[in-house]
Amino acid sequence: MSRLIIVSNRTPGRDPAAGGLAVALRKTLAEREGFWFGWSGKLTEKPSADAVFEDIDGLSVGKLDLTKEDHRGYYAGFSNSILWPSFHLRLDLATIEAPWYEAYRRVNTQFAKALLPHLQPDDVIWVHDYHLIPLATELRHLGARNRIGFYLHIPFPTTDALYAIPHHNELMRDLSRYNLVGLQAQRDVAAFNDFADHQSPSSLSDGPLEAVDFSQTEIAVFPIGSDPDAFAKLSTSPAANKMIKRMQRAMDDQRLILGVDRLDYSKGLPQRVEAYEKLLANNPQFRRLVHLLQVAPPSRDSIKEYQETSDTLDAMCGHVMGRFAEPDWAPLTYVKRAYGQPSLAGLYRLARVGLVTPLRDGMNLVAHEYVASQNPADPGVLVLSRFAGAAEIFPDALLVNPFDTDETAEALRLALEMGLDERQERWHALMDAARLYSVDNWANSYLARLSPDTQQGNGPLRDVLYLASVG
Ligand code: F6P
Repeated sequence: MSRLIIVSNRTPGRDPAAGGLAVALRKTLAEREGFWFGWSGKLTEKPSADAVFEDIDGLSVGKLDLTKEDHRGYYAGFSNSILWPSFHLRLDLATIEAPWYEAYRRVNTQFAKALLPHLQPDDVIWVHDYHLIPLATELRHLGARNRIGFYLHIPFPTTDALYAIPHHNELMRDLSRYNLVGLQAQRDVAAFNDFADHQSPSSLSDGPLEAVDFSQTEIAVFPIGSDPDAFAKLSTSPAANKMIKRMQRAMDDQRLILGVDRLDYSKGLPQRVEAYEKLLANNPQFRRLVHLLQVAPPSRDSIKEYQETSDTLDAMCGHVMGRFAEPDWAPLTYVKRAYGQPSLAGLYRLARVGLVTPLRDGMNLVAHEYVASQNPADPGVLVLSRFAGAAEIFPDALLVNPFDTDETAEALRLALEMGLDERQERWHALMDAARLYSVDNWANSYLARLSPDTQQGNGPLRDVLYLASVG
């Protein structure tokens, strides 16, 4: 079997609160030969030309240092102040500064040059996320002939939003240098195909433009998932039980509504608090009987828009507390820190409602983890945004438009009043979907498609694959 080389901006560390990407891929690589390659997390005076390899819990991880200036332009700048807001359709929050693109390309070149000496001809290379779109181009310039795949962990933008990104045509050409581009949801493939089929150059910045040729690139849906059975087990572990007991002591008989999200404007946190405020305002019978816990670890806090989201949320939580709190009852708790998976599994299991309402999201693995952690005898209810990729595979959640806080408040009421039979029926359907769309099925189906053995007879290019067909 070919070796698997995973490349991503962040590499796995010993931090228990790693994000979705790290958790999903760690397991995939642990079952194969190969290594992980990415940024070391360190900022140095000079960029490192050679990667330093380290063993992290049995995984071989090659790490590169970046300069402070490159990291600012590549990560905080082009990746997270241009690509992230545009791909999430928040053009109002994008900031465009021309030099960031140079830093973005420079870092991708640095990655390619440092990776090349460690490659063998039949290695399969799997590149992850929007930080590294140009990596295949850079590797091909250096002569790499390997099969190279790309997977996008965030939504693909509509054509209009794509046109708002500087150098969008060059970035799309970069994507055409991959053998396989995997996206989270059918919505994303539709948006990609819309661009590919109706390319109309709209910017002067790339010079004279020719249509990008995607005839050698397969574009397909591979919905990422979690490891639901492992999460189910974790939710009854001693560490999870400890968290459950701690919460029960603090909450008495109150029903818990739980949100767990990075502190990011795409997660719809202010709208969520507003919906909760409406629930309490419209349904006084719930006061003193419910509690909202929002776990929101700070993220990308060097970026102004993230600081502003944090400030807005502080103010809104304070407002709801001021309006409804009593000396012996707090309507909500807002925790700005990360928790490890065992504690989260305990919180998920205890929560009567999992409130997952991003304004736009690639998949959202919190929805998967919440479902997997439920007690089958007394499961909670998932309230899920229509604009998360997860909505395509979880039609049995209570689906809401997160911009419509009245609708979310009403879904919360329904969730809190839902009888056991309906909760169980919905949960069984959700758990079946979480198992079908597990992280193992995701990685296996993606890698089967990318593997050199599948090169021939792939069928039509720009196909939509769906995991339901994976045995
Ligand atoms: O949602 C995209 C994503 O890259 C996740 O895979 C990851 O957990 C998260 O963003 C973390 O972002 P950052 O690396 O900027 O902290």
